[in-house]
Amino acid sequence: MLEKYLDRVILGDCIEVLRDIPSDSVDMCFADPPFNLEKKYNSYKDERPDEEYLAWSRIWLEELVRVTKPTGSIFIHNIPRWLTYFAAILNEKAYFRHWIAWDAMSNPVGKTLLPAHYGILFYTKSQNGFKFYEIRMPHKRCRVCNSHLKDYGGKKDQMHPFGPLVSDVWTDIHRIRHNVRRDEHPCQLPIHLLERIVLMSTDPGDVVLDPFLGTGTTAIAAKALGRHYIGIEVDPFYKKIAEEKLANVTPSLYEGYYVSFYLGNIQTIRDIDARELFPPQLTSTEKKARRQQTLQIELELQQPTLLEQREMYMPNRE
Ligand SMILES: C[S@@+](CC[C@H](N)C(=O)[O-])C[C@H]1O[C@@H](n2cnc3c(N)ncnc32)[C@H](O)[C@@H]1O
Repeated sequence: MLEKYLDRVILGDCIEVLRDIPSDSVDMCFADPPFNLEKKYNSYKDERPDEEYLAWSRIWLEELVRVTKPTGSIFIHNIPRWLTYFAAILNEKAYFRHWIAWDAMSNPVGKTLLPAHYGILFYTKSQNGFKFYEIRMPHKRCRVCNSHLKDYGGKKDQMHPFGPLVSDVWTDIHRIRHNVRRDEHPCQLPIHLLERIVLMSTDPGDVVLDPFLGTGTTAIAAKALGRHYIGIEVDPFYKKIAEEKLANVTPSLYEGYYVSFYLGNIQTIRDIDARELFPPQLTSTEKKARRQQTLQIELELQQPTLLEQREMYMPNRE
C-alpha cells in the first residue's frame, strides 16, 4: 500500500492522499502548510476564514499523527499565531518535544516586536522509544578575522573540534534571499533547514512525508540523505518543478557519512558521525594526566635494570 507512494510526488489534495496511507507507516512527517496570509500561490487561494483554516488543519494534523510510526516524529512549520492552535490539537494525539524558533534573519526594521522567527513544532507519536539524534553545527566565526565569536573563556580546550550541539533556537540558516536560488514559489524553504530535521529524526532508508511539498524541498533533502520520500502537492506547476529538481539530486556525503552542506561547508552533522570524523580534543586535566603518564614512562625507561645496576655497582665481581 505504501510502496505505490514511495519516492514520488503525488498530485492531489493532501487530506485525500493521506487517508489512503496506512497507519504507523511513515518515519517522519514535515508539514509547511499555507499560512493563510494571502500569499500569491500559483493556484491555491491562501485566504480562508480563521475557523475554516483551523478546522481544515485539524484534519491533516490528525492524519499526519495516524500515518506516523510509533518510533516516528512530526514537525510543523508555521507562524507562532497558528502554531499555538496546532500545538493544542497535537497535544491531544502526540507528545510535545520542542518548539524550535527559526530566526530566518529578517531585516530589523519596521516595528517593535516585528515577527522575526518562524516556529517549528516537534512532536513524537510515542512518549518513549522515538528516534532522535544529537546534531552539531559549526562554530560561529567572525567573517573578517575567522576567530570564534563565542567566548569559551578558560574552557577553550573543551570546545568540540567541529562545533556545538544545536539548541532550539536556529540562527544559522538563512531564508532563500537571492532570486537566482529561488523557484517560482512564494514560500520555498532552504534545503539545509530540512536536511537538519531529517538528520535529527531519521535513519538512511527511512520514509519522510511532506503533505505540502511546494517545489520539493523536503523530498530533495530526504533523497540527498539516502531516505525515501512521499511528497503531496496540489499544484501541477509546483509538482513539475519538484520532479525536475529531484531528478538531479546527488547524495550529500562527507567521507561516507550523510551530512548537510551549505556553500561547500558542513552545516549540520550528527554527533555520532562527528565523533568519527572530528574526534574530541583532550580536556586540560586529560592533557595533564597524559603528560604525567609519558613522563613516568620516560623515567622508567631511563632507570637501569637490576642487571645493569649490578654491573654498575659490582663491576669486577667475577
Ligand atoms: C508553504 S508552501 C510549501 C513550500 C515548501 N515547503 C517548499 O519549500 O517548497 C504550501 C504548499 O501547499 C500547497 N497546498 C495547498 N493546499 C494543499 C492541499 N490541500 N494539498 C496539497 N498541497 C496543498 C500549495 O500549493 C503550496 O505549494
